[in-house]
Amino acid sequence: MSGYRDRIDLDLDLDRDRDRHPIGPRRVAFDWKTTPLHWIPDEPTATHVINVLHLLLPAGERWFVRVLKEGLPLVTDPELRDDVKGFMGQEATHSVQHSYVLDHLAEQRLPTQAYTRHVDFLFEKLLGESPPFGMPVTEREWLRFRLAVVAAIEQFTAVLGDWVLRAEGLDRAGADEIMLDLLRWHGAEEVEHRSVAFDMYQHCGGVGLARYARRVEGMVVVAPVLAWLWLWGASYLIRNDPEPGGPPRYSLGAHNRAVAKGLLPPWRELGMAIPRYFRRSYHPSQEGSLRRAVEYLAASPAARAAAGAVGRAAMS
Ligand SMILES: [Fe+2]
Ligand SMILES: [Fe+2]
Repeated sequence: MSGYRDRIDLDLDLDRDRDRHPIGPRRVAFDWKTTPLHWIPDEPTATHVINVLHLLLPAGERWFVRVLKEGLPLVTDPELRDDVKGFMGQEATHSVQHSYVLDHLAEQRLPTQAYTRHVDFLFEKLLGESPPFGMPVTEREWLRFRLAVVAAIEQFTAVLGDWVLRAEGLDRAGADEIMLDLLRWHGAEEVEHRSVAFDMYQHCGGVGLARYARRVEGMVVVAPVLAWLWLWGASYLIRNDPEPGGPPRYSLGAHNRAVAKGLLPPWRELGMAIPRYFRRSYHPSQEGSLRRAVEYLAASPAARAAAGAVGRAAMS
């Protein structure tokens, strides 16, 4: 068994070397003043299905940071420690920037607290520092489970990140440039750090079959819960949309029409991310294109402005 484990660990190290890329936060800022509620013109369903990101990510990514910070003392590999710190900086920035979009939605008469308080409860109470309902789980096992959950969610953020970088349908539809830049900057950083939570889980998640089984368990929990939260969130936003003329409720037909126009990711692309993740030899460095992500970050107005601000601060 230990021979197998050594081989897996060696594979992971090689994967990380191959994928070695400095990870750090970019201190971006977005001005939402001119972004309309339906930021994909005449496409309320696609707009709100994507808007679910803003409902889930402020609390979700804050929670990622807390879980990885809790696990950081267990990381003995210095390169992985650097990656984890960079990951935490990126996710903290994502969380803050998406929370500003929630403020913008509220200013446009679409308040979201009636939904987000459930998301807060999920991440802060159910998945908090101690297991809920007095579950008889050791501290270490609870941390490992939550790391497996973060790694499974990161599988989807990498897939969505790569999709949004390729989603020319959004450009064709005249989607708001500020929102597109937020989504693509975030998507590119998700591709950039796609392996970090997985590597952290592998590093801290124990050994052998138990480690693999818990990784699978993370995905078995995450995939249906995420699908349900998304459906619920899209339904909430469409039902509470104050602009006249929109659909009365979320419909699968309207969703599928948006997929056909390239405004939302194809179901198959999302679904296939799951069996891939179940492969025992799987590593997220296989997901998406790091080159495409880096190219976008070099061109992103927000990332360029952030780099300029850092450069100016360094010179002064
Ligand atoms: Fe993120
Ligand atoms: Fe992420």
